[in-house]
This record gives sequence, C-alpha cells and structure tokens, in this order.
Amino acid sequence: MKKFLDIISKEMKKAFETAGYEPELGKVTLSNRPDLCEFQCNGAMAGAKQYHKAPIMIANDVAAKLEGSAVFSQVDAVAPGFLNLRVTESFLKEYLNKMREDEKFGLQMPEKAQKIIVDYGGANVAKPLHVGHLRPAIIGESIKRICRYAGHDVIGDIHMGDWGLQMGLIITELKKRQPQLPYFDENYSGEYPIEAPFTISELEEIYPTASEKAKNDAEYKAEALDATYKLQSGLRGYRALWQHIMNVSIVDLKKNYENLDVEFDLWKGESDVHNIIPGMVEKMKSGGYAYESDGALVVDVKEETDTKEMPPCMILKSDGASLYSTTDLATIMDRMDKYDPDKIIYVTDKRQSLHFEQVFRCARKTGLAKPETEFVHIGNGTMNGSDGKPFKTREGGVMRLESLLNEINEETYRKITENKSMSEKEAKETAKIVALSAVKYGDLSNQASKDYVFDIERFTSFEGDTGPYILYTIVRIKSILSKYNEQKNVADTPSLNDTLNESEKALMLEITKFNAMIEAAYEEIAPHKVCAYIYDLANAFNHFYHETKILTEEDKEKQAGWIALLMLTRDVLETCIDILGFSAPERM
Ligand code: ARG
Repeated sequence: MKKFLDIISKEMKKAFETAGYEPELGKVTLSNRPDLCEFQCNGAMAGAKQYHKAPIMIANDVAAKLEGSAVFSQVDAVAPGFLNLRVTESFLKEYLNKMREDEKFGLQMPEKAQKIIVDYGGANVAKPLHVGHLRPAIIGESIKRICRYAGHDVIGDIHMGDWGLQMGLIITELKKRQPQLPYFDENYSGEYPIEAPFTISELEEIYPTASEKAKNDAEYKAEALDATYKLQSGLRGYRALWQHIMNVSIVDLKKNYENLDVEFDLWKGESDVHNIIPGMVEKMKSGGYAYESDGALVVDVKEETDTKEMPPCMILKSDGASLYSTTDLATIMDRMDKYDPDKIIYVTDKRQSLHFEQVFRCARKTGLAKPETEFVHIGNGTMNGSDGKPFKTREGGVMRLESLLNEINEETYRKITENKSMSEKEAKETAKIVALSAVKYGDLSNQASKDYVFDIERFTSFEGDTGPYILYTIVRIKSILSKYNEQKNVADTPSLNDTLNESEKALMLEITKFNAMIEAAYEEIAPHKVCAYIYDLANAFNHFYHETKILTEEDKEKQAGWIALLMLTRDVLETCIDILGFSAPERM
C-alpha cells in the first residue's frame, strides 16, 4: 500500500502539471502550522525563480486545479505562496479501511527479502549480566523485530563471549582452590565428572575474585593467560572444565534474557569458530594480507581517506592466542559460509566502534565477506545514573541487571497496588509487564547512540512519554471495547464514520503514518521512531477520548464508527509495542 503522503503528493503533482508547472514541485509535507492546516506544499515558493512569477500566482493556479478534488477538502493559497491543505474525510476513511484490511496495516513488503543477522546481547559467559548489557539486548531485540516485521529474513545471534581471558582466569582460580580435581591432572585419561565442580553463585564469585587478583599480581595474570592459551589449543581437562562453565552459565543467562523478553535464534559464541581460525589465518598470510609486527600477526586496515588514526587489525597475539577481533573475523567467515547474509548488524556499546571498523575493513580487504554484504555497527550510548555518570549501585559498584529489574518491579508493584485492588498474583504479573515497558521504552525512546539518564521515577510514571503511559492507553481502549461488547448493540465489524469530529480526524491522520514510520525505522535502524510514533498516537487517542462520550452515545451508528477506530488504534499500538519488545496487560 502506498504511503499516505505519497498519495496526496501525487494528487498535488498532478495539479502542478495541469497548471503548467513542473510536477515535482508538488511535494506535500506535514503541516508545521497544525492550527491552520493538516498538510502543506511549498512548491510554489520553490518554483518562483524558474517561472519568473510571484509564488502566490503559482499557488493560485494550482489551487484552482484542485477544486472538487477527491483528496483535498481545502486548498488555500496564502501569502507569500504557501498551499495550506486539508484532506477529505472520505479519502481518509478509505485509506484507513484499507489499513484495516491489511495484515500489516499497509506496510509494503520488499520484493526480495534480505537475509539479515542481528548480533546483539553479547553476554559474557561466567560473568553476571550487569546494566551495561541491558542496552544492547533491548535495542538489538527491537532491531531484530523491526527487520522481521518489515518482511526480512532475520536471525538473532547472541554471540557470547566464551573464549577469552575470563575463561583462563576462572580455570586458574579453580586450580588454586581445588588442585586435586582431575581436570588439572595432565596424566588423567578417564572420563571427567558430569557434575560441575561449582554452582552458578560460586562461579559468579570466582570470576571477579580472579579478575581482581590478576590486576594486582603479574604472575597470576601470566598463569591465566597461559590457561587461556591452553584451553584454546585444546587441552582436554581445560576443555572439560570450560564445558562445565558453559553449561552452568548459559542456564542462568537464558533465564535472565527470558525475563527481558529477549529471544535469540542462535546461542553461538566466540568458541564456536575456534577450529576455523587456523585456516583463516593461513589464508590471510598466503594472500599477503597478514604480516608479523612485534611478534603479533596483523593486517593493515588504514585507508587513504582516513582522518583519524587507524591501527592495524590484530589477528593473533604474540603468544599465538586469538583475540576479540580474531573470533569476530572467523565468525564473519562462518556466517558467510552458513547463511550468506546481505547484512550483519552488530549492537554493542559505542566504545567498541574502532574494533568493528577494523574488523569490517579487514573482512572486506581479505575477502572474508563478499563486497555486497553490508556491515553495520550500532554503537549504543551509556545508561547513566542521575549524577550523569554510568549507572551504579547505591554503594558505587557495578549494578547487576537482576537487581535493577527487581527495583523497577517493586516500584511498578507499589504504583499498581496503590490505586487498584487486584489479587496479589495479578498485581505481581502486571507489575512485571509494566516494569518491562518502563525499562524498554525508557531506553528505546532515546536515539541508540545517545547517553541517557535512567530515572526510575520518570520511567515508571503513568503520564508523559513513558512505556506505562502507552500501556495505560492500550488498557483504556481495551476496557472501552469490552464494556461496549457487554452492551452488544451493533454489528460485529463496525465501519468508520463518514463525518468526523476534529479529534477523531486527528487520530485517524496519526494512524495513517504507520507504514512510512516503519519503513523509516527499518531503513535507519531506529527503534526510537516507533516510540515517537506511538507517543503521538497515544496522545491523539487520549485527546479524542476526552472529547468524546463514546459509551453513552445515542447515535448507535456513530458510536460503532468510533468503536471501529478504537479497534484499529489498539491493533496498531499493540503491534508497535510488540516490535519494541514488550506487551500490555489486560488491566492496570
Ligand atoms: N561479549 C562482548 C562484550 O561484552 C560483546 C559481543 C558483541 N558482538 C560481537 N560480535 N563482537 O563486550
């Protein structure tokens, strides 16, 4: 289905043409004076020079051609040459009717679906998820859903950090604590125990302890590096230990992501590509791309046009161990091989942008990826506390994701039980749904690259530009619809009204923007556009709601028209929040 603005622009272009002007001048935009008109066209101003005419003359010529238009009910040529426009109610109604019939509310599907991989979440095995992991998870999940809704073939991959120094650190610390374990006996050739030698809470204590020790003790750090290298080289006992760490940790990660309504198609990680690294390195060497520098193996990725420093991409450390860039490059090779993607989108903290620039360039230069494959890094900004610094616990430590979510759950629970009587169970469930909307909307309504202040009080408010406000609006619509259904006095599929109140028309006009909005959110990889749209839509609905006595209306046909509009508004809002990664409760 064509976009609303395109259709009305077409009508305007036709008028420019019949009046003897360049049709392209007839581009219609949203009005920046909503008090005067719904849309506007500034083409007469732009055409003045070309036609050596006063803009108002051109505007008058065009307006004359639009008399009796089926699209425009009002075309005012105003000084110095603007065209102020309103659309006819019948045209608007027809457009919305088509939206109602279409499964995707008029969003056009691509001729050929793109194969897209979204690499997001990026949890590190054996380290607890902390607030820094929240944004890539939330933003990535929404990007995945946007791409999918836009009709593409999308795979979400968590790309776990499971092959780096943290594994060597844990192994080293375990060896110190329990040297008698068979994993550390090089002569042991039997089966290893099925049971892991630690629990998740022990694991979560072991890593920070080891990491702290390595910071202050060079020898300890050297041991951890050595253990990492041995693990990567395939030492049997270390591999077995590594598998235990994976098993214990992934169960916990899955639970955490489930709580966030974040769902990965692939649970792959850095380790999954370890056995293709040697072949990749060989290719880079024999192709003449990789060379030795200070013992390490590197590939130059500088380009002539660079204005900032671009260090070479490191492929192997001097001890032969692989690095973050090594596994990312091998993962690209693996993905090309298995999925042949048109596009790979990575979502991480923006402080990793140099890493990705190097990796993308290296992949292109060395021919790991075909030239058409597009690489995009969406670097997210930091989530700050009210002091403007990265979010911390009250004690100043790194905040665990779980604690943060608990705090918000408590806050929404308090708000819900304050003015509603609900069973304990329902209140708890509702609080969880509302809390998730608060966190996700609070995050996604900001442009991904910007830092923002995480403000529990504001994010959980039922008023203003917040997730709970959107949910509240949806719940309000649902409640009117169910009351109406109880009265049950009109047909099941009511049709929209022919004559519209002002706020009714304004709401309808907001709805028409859906397909253009999704298209832009997809093309610009910008979930915040979905937030901005539903905020405007919710406002337009609430304005309409306050102006209109829907349930007590005597004119049953009119009432049914409003009900039809409510149903469409609800469906569009619910679709949008699903794209953002949260849902609405039945009551709140
Ligand atoms: N594990 C990484 C981190 O915590 C994020 C991984 C992102 N994805 C990637 N392909 N590098 O920083």
